[in-house]
Amino acid sequence: MFIVVVLLAFFTSSGFKGSESEDFWSLLPSPPLSSFSLSSLSLSPSSLLGLGALASLTAYWLVTRPRPMRPPCDLQAQSVGDPSCRRSALLQDDSLLEFYYDDTRTAYDMFQRGLRIAGNGPCLGFRKPGQPYQWISYTEVAQQAHILGSGLLAKGCQPNSQQFVGIFAQNRPEWIISELACYTYSMAVVPLYDTLGLEAMVHILNLAEISLVICDREEKAASLLENKEKGMIPNISCLVLFDDFSEALVERAEKCEVDVLKLEQLMVSRAEALNNHNPPQPQDLAVVCFTSGTTGKPKGAMITHGNIGSFVIRQEDVSISYLPLAHMFERMIQVSMFCHGARVGFYQGDISLLMDDIKTLKPTFFPVVPRLLNRIYDKILGSVTSPFRRALLHYAVRRKQAELSSGVVRNNSLWDKLVFNRIQSNLGGNLRFALTASAPISTTVLSFLRATLGCLIFEGYGQTECTAGCTFSMPGDWSTGHVGAPLPCAMVKLVDIPDMNYYAKNGEGEICIRGPSVFRGYLRDPERTAEALDSDGWLHSGDVGQWLPNGTLRIIDRKKHIFKLSQGEYIAPEKIENVYMRCVPVLQVFVHGDSLQSYLIGIVVPDPEVFVDWAKDRGFVGSHEELCQNPDVKNAVLEDMKAVGKEAGLKSFEQVKDLYLHPETFTVANGLLTPTLKSKRTDIRRVFQEQISSMYSKTPI
Ligand SMILES: *[C@@H]1O[C@H](CO)[C@@H](O)[C@H](O)[C@H]1NC(C)=O
Ligand SMILES: *[C@@H]1O[C@H](CO)[C@@H](O)[C@H](O)[C@H]1NC(C)=O
Ligand SMILES: *[C@@H]1O[C@H](CO)[C@@H](O)[C@H](O)[C@H]1NC(C)=O
Repeated sequence: MFIVVVLLAFFTSSGFKGSESEDFWSLLPSPPLSSFSLSSLSLSPSSLLGLGALASLTAYWLVTRPRPMRPPCDLQAQSVGDPSCRRSALLQDDSLLEFYYDDTRTAYDMFQRGLRIAGNGPCLGFRKPGQPYQWISYTEVAQQAHILGSGLLAKGCQPNSQQFVGIFAQNRPEWIISELACYTYSMAVVPLYDTLGLEAMVHILNLAEISLVICDREEKAASLLENKEKGMIPNISCLVLFDDFSEALVERAEKCEVDVLKLEQLMVSRAEALNNHNPPQPQDLAVVCFTSGTTGKPKGAMITHGNIGSFVIRQEDVSISYLPLAHMFERMIQVSMFCHGARVGFYQGDISLLMDDIKTLKPTFFPVVPRLLNRIYDKILGSVTSPFRRALLHYAVRRKQAELSSGVVRNNSLWDKLVFNRIQSNLGGNLRFALTASAPISTTVLSFLRATLGCLIFEGYGQTECTAGCTFSMPGDWSTGHVGAPLPCAMVKLVDIPDMNYYAKNGEGEICIRGPSVFRGYLRDPERTAEALDSDGWLHSGDVGQWLPNGTLRIIDRKKHIFKLSQGEYIAPEKIENVYMRCVPVLQVFVHGDSLQSYLIGIVVPDPEVFVDWAKDRGFVGSHEELCQNPDVKNAVLEDMKAVGKEAGLKSFEQVKDLYLHPETFTVANGLLTPTLKSKRTDIRRVFQEQISSMYSKTPI
């Protein structure tokens, strides 16, 4: 059987909160998925009939009939405990799993394990445009990290976990080498990223008193220097770059007493200059991950080495790295890959080339976010235009879904050969499993893609603050509508929210997590640490969950941002926004209402990439801006949103009754998104005050 999987998934994800990460993806240009077309489907109606073939299809199916995978526990009892507090059914008792392997208690250990397994085998892959992937071996990565780490010490970094080193770069091999260099000497990494915004970045650099930042390109170093010149980041004294840089940068840096070096210059290779490894302890800080609330300064979640767990991956596995390394989701995936001596190939840094990178790399493991899966889904459906092909596709999907419900996942059925082959080969043709996390995924999309891609698709739930995740789909349970059972490293409890009428005794409430994966607090921020982490060590997630009879957890709501409409109904706008995000023309949406009004309205930013074509298909012609002002177009978008809302089960009072189309994207720069790309609700409300009042002054349709 080809499936031997992620048993005991000891896993992770990040920032699952509401629309945060969805927003993140909505900002990226979406990868062109044109290749996802089924148009070359070789099968014509006549050839199918010509095969004469129902009988032979059946015979073929009987011969290739697969066996379902054996789940690691009874799928009808995936967790044990009382109506409120539960743990994984995979555990013998209430003692949670802390380490997957006895000798891998830190991220450093995990890499060393991979090194023992894979040695000179490939570790990090990269490619130049149009070229095949080139690989750096485990041995080389370990050597380079050792040399670089010694170089950092020579630059005055201290070999302990109070030493923070900034990494301000896109995903690429040097990122991982720099990180490992830090771990080799017990230093902690602070990932920085563009979308944090200037103010947040300055805050972080000062809070962590960072003196050395490793950057990929000159622009990033220059933006830091600019702040140094203004005296805003006094601690910065050294910038290290992956890429070449200009003489001008060096001069500018000299003026404000900052050293600028190329990565190689720091890598003193003379053996006598190398320091012995000084590896971290499990309780040591590994990463400080900055996330921000909807208001206020960013919070640095302190993740220790002991928090970083593992899940079973095989040495032959290859994954593609394109999700931001600054997020725990991607960090955890890489660490887990290294622990098993597996390979990670980096995208070229341009999301529009991602599909080409995937086709070249042929990953066996695809970490993914719902936004991208939604695009793939839309693209597959959009490419089947003829009624015959459409019917065939849906029929094939239903056949595969029937198999799924009996636990079978495969890519070698007749339907795969006839219908899904091309879709699968567009993802390289080697996918064994995918993992979606970071935001909720619609059950329709998940179940459709499980059928068409013919690989295992796991769903994880968690957040930065509980590194090693919280729940994960149990291998063998391919049903949708829940986020799986608690991981063996987490105890999950639901807590009453009387305001919202959720009570733990009914198996509903705020999701709280305790266990080795829970973070240590926010860096130098006791107040907000106390808000997130109670005195008994329970992390309060702010998400509302419900236990299902088979011991899995369903996310049903969000605790914050709740208001009541005048007729007394509670509204969770973020939940509704997540539903509307599924509409093709919608890029961003803000749902508004308050207790003085009896209905909701929305501010919608149409997706510039598809809006003009979408409108054209409906008989509206014009530029993006013109279309936004056209009331008929607005109504068409509204109808589309209502249809999607209805399908997703929104109650009628949860549907927006009117909307305003805004041509300009909400961004960090225009002050409408937080540095972590959540909507700044108060500011959006203020900016659109006029449109909001005008919508409420009309009688709704
Ligand atoms: C960072 O700068 C502040 C203010 O100049 C100083 O008090 C502090 O000691 C510096 N920290 C480090 C680690 O250099
Ligand atoms: C089918 O899945 C197996 C692994 O489960 C993989 O090796 C193979 O390449 C896949 N084939 C296609 C066409 O995706
Ligand atoms: C678990 O329960 C949910 C809700 O009742 C259901 O949708 C799902 O199919 C169940 N899973 C299994 C494996 O029975």
